[in-house]
Amino acid sequence: MYIEAHEVQEVANAMMNMLHEDELEVINNFYDAVKAKDIEKIDELFKALLAEMEVHFKTEEDMMEQNAYADAGMHKSDHDVMRKKLTKFHKRWEVLKGPKEVLNFLDKDFKKWYTGHVSKWDAKAAPLLG
Ligand SMILES: [Fe+2]
Ligand SMILES: [Fe+2]
Repeated sequence: MYIEAHEVQEVANAMMNMLHEDELEVINNFYDAVKAKDIEKIDELFKALLAEMEVHFKTEEDMMEQNAYADAGMHKSDHDVMRKKLTKFHKRWEVLKGPKEVLNFLDKDFKKWYTGHVSKWDAKAAPLLG
């Protein structure tokens, strides 16, 4: 297991927790495919991950806007950092089909960002997003 459920902090907003839970399944399946160097499965799950993450980020950003949340800009900037990385690594994947590079990104960067983002930005916003 790449990211255990208990490693993702529960926040004070049911919608946000649901987004994280749904996504965690895709993230862990994606990690397994990358570890197994299963090219076809990585192809499929990389796209699924990008779609899940975009729904997750966009839903939170819409909620922040609707609630006129003061730190929406900074929170969105942290989403944008990961949006850019995911897009970059997906483009490189499409050309190179190199699981090693993707695995390195997941091991060295993604998990730390993901759990850190939820603990810092999502936890802070959650109680203010009705
Ligand atoms: Fe989130
Ligand atoms: Fe967020």
